[in-house]
Amino acid sequence: MQEKTSDRFVVNGLGGKKTLSGKIRVNGAKNAALKLMAASVLFNDSVKLKNVPSIEDVYRMRDLLRASGAEADELKKGEYRIKTGGMKKDGELDHEISKRLRASIVATGPMLSRFGRVSFPHPGGCVIGARPIDLFIEGFEKMGASVRVSKKGTKDWYRISAKAGKLRGARIFFKQQSVTATETFMMAAVLAKGKTVLKNAALEPEIKHLADFLSKGGAKIKGAGTTTIEIKGGSLLQMRGRSFKIMPDRIETGSFLILGALAGKNIEIVDCNPVNVESLIQLLELSGVKIKTGKTNIIIKGNGVKNKNLKSVSVKTHEYPGFPTDLQAPMVVYLTQVKGESLVFETIFEGRLNYTESLARMGATTETWDPHRIMVKGPTELSGRVLESPDLRAGLAFVIAAIVAKGESVVHNVYNIDRGYEKIEERLKKIGVDIVRVKN
Ligand code: EPZ
Repeated sequence: MQEKTSDRFVVNGLGGKKTLSGKIRVNGAKNAALKLMAASVLFNDSVKLKNVPSIEDVYRMRDLLRASGAEADELKKGEYRIKTGGMKKDGELDHEISKRLRASIVATGPMLSRFGRVSFPHPGGCVIGARPIDLFIEGFEKMGASVRVSKKGTKDWYRISAKAGKLRGARIFFKQQSVTATETFMMAAVLAKGKTVLKNAALEPEIKHLADFLSKGGAKIKGAGTTTIEIKGGSLLQMRGRSFKIMPDRIETGSFLILGALAGKNIEIVDCNPVNVESLIQLLELSGVKIKTGKTNIIIKGNGVKNKNLKSVSVKTHEYPGFPTDLQAPMVVYLTQVKGESLVFETIFEGRLNYTESLARMGATTETWDPHRIMVKGPTELSGRVLESPDLRAGLAFVIAAIVAKGESVVHNVYNIDRGYEKIEERLKKIGVDIVRVKN
């Protein structure tokens, strides 16, 4: 996604001469906050969310809810109150916002469940692959809804209506595990008539977190965090003045861990949940990185890539608890710096290795086998370059590459990074990174 007015980062790389030290805090999880905000549509009283990150995608979800008539306000830093009582009943999702935010698709579940209808454009988001929505369409039809597709401009526009205004419980087998489809149908089922069973559900921790939130409001959900989830439909949920804290972001945690492995002398990552990044920890340890985990912190001591004994490891992205696709790009940066050949197999999205061309311009040696597989040969010295952030995860990977590189790099299109990481430059500065944001 391209923003004309986007800022840029200027990074002066460590060039193997310096290391990083200090504490770095992990914020609330983007991919949890967005879903809980959408889920507030299922409540008949106000919902209070804490530890919500100040990021562009959260602002877009806030705007999406407001455009449908909800009140969504940040009462104080990181604390949102959302009231959906006054929402319009036409179920229409704002066209422009939905086009920009892939996560807008999760709002379709609660909207259809509550208002009996929803209309929306094919959702936008990062350019990382085809990103179809067939699972959503098939699932809604199973729940007794009718789907009409028309063209609005160049985009498909979907109109979905529940029979007699109410979804009915169904047995839905996802032919492909999908995070947002699992979340959407878990929410759709909360107000449906009867029981819904979701089979081959995704296992990402954000799904269990969403189920905990819905259950706090009175939803009857069993099995979230496993491949079979059962939901008994009921009436609107109630928060009764209580609040709910968003879990730590595991992708942010993992990205800091990779940065620590590359350049950390003594880095402590705080306010995180190490269990959620076990697949990464295991790979980094295999590669030779020394990592100590506590309950909510991770410590990396060493000399980063100055430690010549770090070895290559092959990576295959996988649904949770496997290696997350969202950490694939920063991991590739790591692999450019260690000794040997590493095969990287991106199994989830077909467009998610395109950024490696820019790493090659920095000096990385990568060989593309096909749209899903590359071979990384290390170690190679990276040199500062002018880069364009293509999506939020690859954008942060470029910042990490720029930190490791020799000389100055400029990372353009910082909007993409701001979509998912709150004031990343301020947190990086605290551990010794030389980075400045240049406003546009
Ligand atoms: C979620 O996307 C995350 N987004 C992504 O994070 C993350 O990369 C992805 O899960 C995988 O972990 C949000 O939570 C908002 P999927 P999602 O449906 O749910 C195919 C980030 O950077 N599929 O689990 O859209 C799809 O093409 C973002 O924060 C269908 O075939 O991903 C893919 O191959 C990027 N039909 C696979 O399923 C469908 O209808 C898994 O994708 C839907 C998906």
